[in-house]
Amino acid sequence: MIVAGHETTALTLFWSLYLLASAPVEQERLLQEVRAVALDADNAGDTFTKLPYTRAVVDETLRLYPPAFIIVRKAIGPDRIGDLAIPKGSMVSVAPWVLHRHVGRWKDPDAFNPSRFLDAQQKAPRFAYLPFGAGPRVCVGAQFALAEASIVLATLIQRFEVALADDTPVLPVGVVTTQPDHPAPFRLRVRT
Ligand code: HEM
Repeated sequence: MIVAGHETTALTLFWSLYLLASAPVEQERLLQEVRAVALDADNAGDTFTKLPYTRAVVDETLRLYPPAFIIVRKAIGPDRIGDLAIPKGSMVSVAPWVLHRHVGRWKDPDAFNPSRFLDAQQKAPRFAYLPFGAGPRVCVGAQFALAEASIVLATLIQRFEVALADDTPVLPVGVVTTQPDHPAPFRLRVRT
């Protein structure tokens, strides 16, 4: 839980705050959703179901900045991917980073548009969206992480207006996970 579950979820929260700080309209929409929701620990399970837009922001963050930007497998036997022969022992990389921004799979792939996850028409095929992997080794903590990230994000936005304290772009760097290249300063204003 500590190794696989802490940094991945922390990065999801970092990038979601970065995206929301850069997109006031989406932050305001999230605020409208969370404004009237009671976000205390006692009813956390019920709360999650009342946060569809917050969850969509988390989904969209995981699309644009998947913490696991690459997933690697070693072929245990000869295989084939389309026209390509895979000899036994080959390292095969599946890159959520590339799949999630593929122009053939997503409309306007570089845009931050959480609503795409609320619209069944815009849903990408299952294997074009792999923030938690797929198959027998799929993330065992996925549902926990989605609930945790959504509830923490809702709590933060309910209490604070989040802005960037400077306009230096934060670039993603692939160091095991998708890290920010520098600790971006945020400015928090308490909401009244
Ligand atoms: C947003 C947060 C998270 C992301 C993006 C994430 C991503 C992933 C991915 C992509 C894999 C598959 C790796 C592969 O196929 O090689 C994975 C596996 C795994 N994750 Fe997560 N994870 C997250 C949160 C968590 C949490 C909260 C836990 C634990 C409570 C957790 C525990 C695990 C474990 C144990 C595996 C290995 C499963 C196996 O091999 O059978 N993860 N995760």
